[in-house]
Amino acid sequence: MCGIIGIISTQEVSSRIVNSLKKLEYRGYDSAGIATLVDGNINEVKCEGRVDVLERDISKFNLKGDIGIGHVRWATHGKPSKINAHPHSSEQVSVVHNGIIENSTILKKLLEKKGYVFKSQTDTEVIAHLVTDYLKKNSLKNTIIKVLKKLHGSFALGIIFKDQNDLMVGAKRGSPLAVGYGPNENYIGSDSYALKSMTNKISYLEDGEFCIVKKDQIEFFDNVGSHINKKVLNLSKNEIDYDKGDYKYFMEKEIDEQPSTISDCINEYIDKYNNQVNILNFPWKTSSIKSVMLIGCGTAFHSCLIAKYWMEQSTNLDVSVDIASEFRYRKVRFKKDCLYIFVSQSGETADTYAALDLCKKNKVKTCAVVNVVESSIARNADLVLPIHCGQEIGVASTKAFMGQMLVLYILSLKISFDQKSITREEYKHKVENLLSLSNSAKKTLKVDQKILNIAKVFAEAKGSMFLGRGYSFPIALEGALKLKELAYVHAEGYPAGEMKHGPLALIEEGMPVVVLAPRDEHYKKTISNMQEVIARGAKVLLITNKNKDEVISENIWEKIEVDQLDEDLIPFLITIPLQKLAFYSALKKGYDIDKPRNLAKSVTVE
Ligand code: F6R
Repeated sequence: MCGIIGIISTQEVSSRIVNSLKKLEYRGYDSAGIATLVDGNINEVKCEGRVDVLERDISKFNLKGDIGIGHVRWATHGKPSKINAHPHSSEQVSVVHNGIIENSTILKKLLEKKGYVFKSQTDTEVIAHLVTDYLKKNSLKNTIIKVLKKLHGSFALGIIFKDQNDLMVGAKRGSPLAVGYGPNENYIGSDSYALKSMTNKISYLEDGEFCIVKKDQIEFFDNVGSHINKKVLNLSKNEIDYDKGDYKYFMEKEIDEQPSTISDCINEYIDKYNNQVNILNFPWKTSSIKSVMLIGCGTAFHSCLIAKYWMEQSTNLDVSVDIASEFRYRKVRFKKDCLYIFVSQSGETADTYAALDLCKKNKVKTCAVVNVVESSIARNADLVLPIHCGQEIGVASTKAFMGQMLVLYILSLKISFDQKSITREEYKHKVENLLSLSNSAKKTLKVDQKILNIAKVFAEAKGSMFLGRGYSFPIALEGALKLKELAYVHAEGYPAGEMKHGPLALIEEGMPVVVLAPRDEHYKKTISNMQEVIARGAKVLLITNKNKDEVISENIWEKIEVDQLDEDLIPFLITIPLQKLAFYSALKKGYDIDKPRNLAKSVTVE
């Protein structure tokens, strides 16, 4: 969460900082700010709201300076406001910060006793005053070492100094920080994406490290101040110019891109000539793996949940799933014969990263299923399985969910083949079936007109429910999450069989309920559960798949049918109408679809 950019150059930097902040808006967008150093003075421009507002404000100030830092914020301490926007400055320094300083209240009290006056409610402001205080008696380098030692919690920092017109400092613990090398200028940034328009040469700071960045030199240090060398990575130059094309919203575009997400991913992982899964870099003997633990947050967690069903169905593995923020604090008994799989679109989610880190410390097998291959999670796992779906900009995850499910499905197929837990014929059949998935997804996309009308009801509802059994249960959770985060409608995802154990009490006349009932082994039972909610007045949208037998039920409000594929592939298809339902419900209410309130694309705080 939050985005940092810093540039030190021979030329003015403010417009490039603003451009980079636009790229970083996916990390937070409730306020933004910039500080540059001009003739020994730090000049700040900050605003509540988006980078567009900041850009407008900057144009009034004619902000000069060839050293500067910028920030987009996702509020943790203190509400979104101009005063709480970063950078935070003292009389000596200006600081941008991602993460959370857990001992900020104690530090603030100590600093106030010394006479420092705080303007904001943020945890970050303590860093500015703490640096200022240490600078009185210490060199710059020793100040940084001492300040970092004092701070508890997680951070990525960018700092500029009033009395130093030739350098800026970057530091990292927990939150990611990239350092970029340019011609007569250098950079720091929350991720390589923010720096890509300026350089493709990047190093990443590791936890505890800091750097002193000058125009023509970057020095790296460990937590005690010893010099360290960093690997310089050459990122691919072809920055994809990702725009909305004919679409008004990224999310809409990304939903529609899913047939290509599916085919791109299949092209990467399926050998179509030999009809087999191609995960060539799998570093372990499958026989050495007896269990799997899948870990993620939010939508990524839902893809883990569905993978449990696939893996239990076709492999011999014991499969467990956990939410990263729970896993990292449980007393887990790590097992050498367990494969720990981390699923994350951004590859930067703080909890997922911390869970991976815990596994690394316990020396167990780790695998990352990520979209951003340069991310912290990808860089630290033993095996990386990219989902190959291209950049996802819409804050609500759609095509990445599709890619995550697909990679996990393919991994499950590989393991079941290696373990011989399915026959060769079953394996070939499943691989072959995958090849028609993209086409069926394309057909499923053509539900707009119908969904548009259905969405009017969901958009106005006080609450709604999403029900499913088996493979459809995680999809029900995902459908409910999408509606909540985009249309701000209360939505509960529930296993259909659980309704009579309490939640039926919520059903009122006219309440919209989605029932996911594909023709699988649960079909008849789910239809019975559907009757129970209809009997209590629910307006049911049934999502099922085409079949020669009509659904035998009266009083279904609306019905959507997807293609008839093997039941383990149906989750991919029934996901699509739910994404569109959330999209059109938010559209109906006039909400900001690509940047829903209180969310961020990359959750780098716990
Ligand atoms: C929901 C959504 C979030 C993310 C979650 C994990 O649409 O986008 O729930 O899925 O924050 O993010 P990643 O996948 O980047 O680890």
